[in-house]
Amino acid sequence: MAVGRSSAADSRDALLELQQLAESAGYTVRACVSARRDKPEPRLFVGAGKAEEICAQLKAADAGIVLFDVALTPAQQRNLEQALKVPVLDRSTLILDIFARRAKSREGKLQVELAQLEHLSTRLVRGWTHLERQRGGLSKTGGPGEKQIELDRRMIASRVKLLRDRLKTLAKQRHTQRRSRARRDVFSVSLVGYTNAGKSTLFNALTRAGTYAADQLFATLDTTSRRCFVAPNVEVVLSDTVGFIRGLPHQLVEAFKSTLEETVEADLLLHVVDAAAPAREAQIEEVQRVLDGIGAGDVPQLMVYNKIDLLDRAAEVVEGAHVTIPRVFASAATGKGIDGLREAIAQQARLARSQVGATEHERFEPEFDPRTAPSSISL
Ligand code: GTP
Repeated sequence: MAVGRSSAADSRDALLELQQLAESAGYTVRACVSARRDKPEPRLFVGAGKAEEICAQLKAADAGIVLFDVALTPAQQRNLEQALKVPVLDRSTLILDIFARRAKSREGKLQVELAQLEHLSTRLVRGWTHLERQRGGLSKTGGPGEKQIELDRRMIASRVKLLRDRLKTLAKQRHTQRRSRARRDVFSVSLVGYTNAGKSTLFNALTRAGTYAADQLFATLDTTSRRCFVAPNVEVVLSDTVGFIRGLPHQLVEAFKSTLEETVEADLLLHVVDAAAPAREAQIEEVQRVLDGIGAGDVPQLMVYNKIDLLDRAAEVVEGAHVTIPRVFASAATGKGIDGLREAIAQQARLARSQVGATEHERFEPEFDPRTAPSSISL
């Protein structure tokens, strides 16, 4: 279900993305319904007629859940569930759900749990007002509803505090690792990009590592770092980071802040773009917006137009609005353009080294031989 985009093409792209999100969360999409509204209807978000249409589609397709590509208020979600008699999820809940399924590392799991609890706590406050009304008249102690809310709030608050403390400790460790890397003067490069742009595939192509890459949104949540040579005597630390998406729930951005710091502190960002995506320009905008939001807007960037094997001509993408950022065309899948990308990264690393002062950073590096040199070393 997609609602309220400005153009038909935007709606199509949004619907396609919602389908991908649904599939990534393990659902099979049986039917799609679109609606155009200037503003949401307070009770159900959609109008009563549209709700009936969804109900009919649900029955015809024998579907068991409805996904909305918008943020629903807790009341709207509840009213829709009552009207449609199936669970209703909105976009934020769906993304949180995918993150919860994908989280593998201890830090990733803690980050997702924190985001989920914070999401839940906002729903508790507003969603349970019907129970608060059970409060007994002028009594100061309140009724059972209030007590339950209070208990739940307290439990959530103490768990949130515990998670925050644990994440803080892990963030400190991460910071120490980064500092020791910085002391070794290794040029750090972070891969950023819209989800499914091909970051992990590119990471593997550059480091020849076996990071999980799949045609699913948010296949990788954990930052993976590897040291690798991009040219003789030019060694860098490459980090694969979590993908961005339009409308990333703010709780997730908050929870993943320590992971995203990797991005803020990088010497260079490889902004990986799916050159073949119909919504390519909007995805670039979204990534730039998130980068600005986390304070990484000023980190030097190389724009990597990936998946050029899917385009007839790489020139098709040159017209984009981001011509001021240096760009490289590549296909992580076929290997086309990867040598050029390595060289572009090496140039930036050499430039940075020369700016800091060569003598300060001169150190022994073994002669690079791609046949014998370990191309990637786990940190
Ligand atoms: P998230 O983990 O969601 O952030 O995704 P990601 O950006 O790490 O993308 P990933 O590397 O998982 O790739 C997504 C899909 O695109 C996979 O099916 C890859 O095989 C495919 N893919 C990556 N690079 C290329 C490419 O150059 N050409 C083609 N045709 N497919 C590619």
